[in-house]
Amino acid sequence: MTVEHIKEILNIAVWAPSGDNSQPWRFEVRNEKLYIFNIPDRDNPILNFKQSGSYVAHGGLIENISIASPHFGYSANVSLFPDAQNKDLVASVSFENTDKKDHPLFNYIKQRVTNRKPYKNEVLTQEQKDILFESDNVFFREDKAEKKIIASAASTMERIALETPAIHKLFFRGILWNKKDNDAGQGGLYIKTLELPPPIRVAFKFLKHWAITNIFNKIGFSKLASKGNAGVYAKSSALYVVVMDSDTGKDFINAGRISQRIWLNATKLGLSVQPVTGILFLARRVIAGDTGVFLNSHIPLIKNAYEKIKATFGIGSGTIAMMFRVGYANKPTARSYRLSPHINIEDK
Ligand SMILES: Cc1cc2nc3c(=O)[nH]c(=O)nc-3n(C[C@H](O)[C@H](O)[C@H](O)COP(=O)(O)O)c2cc1C
Repeated sequence: MTVEHIKEILNIAVWAPSGDNSQPWRFEVRNEKLYIFNIPDRDNPILNFKQSGSYVAHGGLIENISIASPHFGYSANVSLFPDAQNKDLVASVSFENTDKKDHPLFNYIKQRVTNRKPYKNEVLTQEQKDILFESDNVFFREDKAEKKIIASAASTMERIALETPAIHKLFFRGILWNKKDNDAGQGGLYIKTLELPPPIRVAFKFLKHWAITNIFNKIGFSKLASKGNAGVYAKSSALYVVVMDSDTGKDFINAGRISQRIWLNATKLGLSVQPVTGILFLARRVIAGDTGVFLNSHIPLIKNAYEKIKATFGIGSGTIAMMFRVGYANKPTARSYRLSPHINIEDK
């Protein structure tokens, strides 16, 4: 394995999704082995409860490394959390020589994108569902009434985000307002990728000020925004969740790997995907009893929304690590980019 090949693999792998495009990773190469580290303060500190969002992102990154390696003539052997003393060391990867061969999903790593446009009201074929939802960890719903319940529960997030000063602040602080910052690969959500309807797009510049959002909320803005997004989420072909037995770091990484594989397959099938996760991350915090950031009146809303999502997907025990909508849509207006991977090389 050459350092050049590791660099080439990482240049492709970092096209993995991450919360707010936070890209919470850095790399070291020692004795031909790759070490992947989490950067704990990169992602939104309220949503990224116990690094669960960042670990999902690392799962996508690791899945990409596995898929990209055969293109360069290697197979990747991944060991998760190899050092119990260092929880930021997410994985070590050793590479074995194999025949050069492209994985069937290799070409889709860079094409995969979050599409926040409204989706069309079209159903998935049985063949598409068999490909996408083959994992035992995945549950999906396509019945209209069930999608409506899940969408409405998921969009409780928008209401809470607009009514909670700390979440509002982090959300607006994370927006990239201009193309130059987005083209440079900076973390944050580029405004054009949010696919906002024109009146909201204009209002967004003002809504970044808490005092203005607060006044708008008094005349029902947060509830209206939530209702609007519920309608968008419900109009997908299907909503699906990735469920793990437990909620350890390894579980979230494995959920990220499963999520990434589905997303790449969806891309190959010409389908659009958007994670819809905010409420899951808030629920994780509430379930752990860490509610300091929330208004008292929001705590039961978050709990009820999570319970509704679980019940509608028919999930008894287990943790919902991720939730997505999938369907047919026009191409996104814009896409996000990436920073070059930060690699510390000790091999000469
Ligand atoms: C753990 C996690 C949670 C995410 N949650 C959401 C979400 O709730 N809504 C959303 O629109 N995108 C969500 N995303 C998508 C990211 O914002 C997106 O991957 C990132 O901005 C990079 O853009 P790209 O996927 O188009 O490459 C999430 C991604 C990850 C990994």
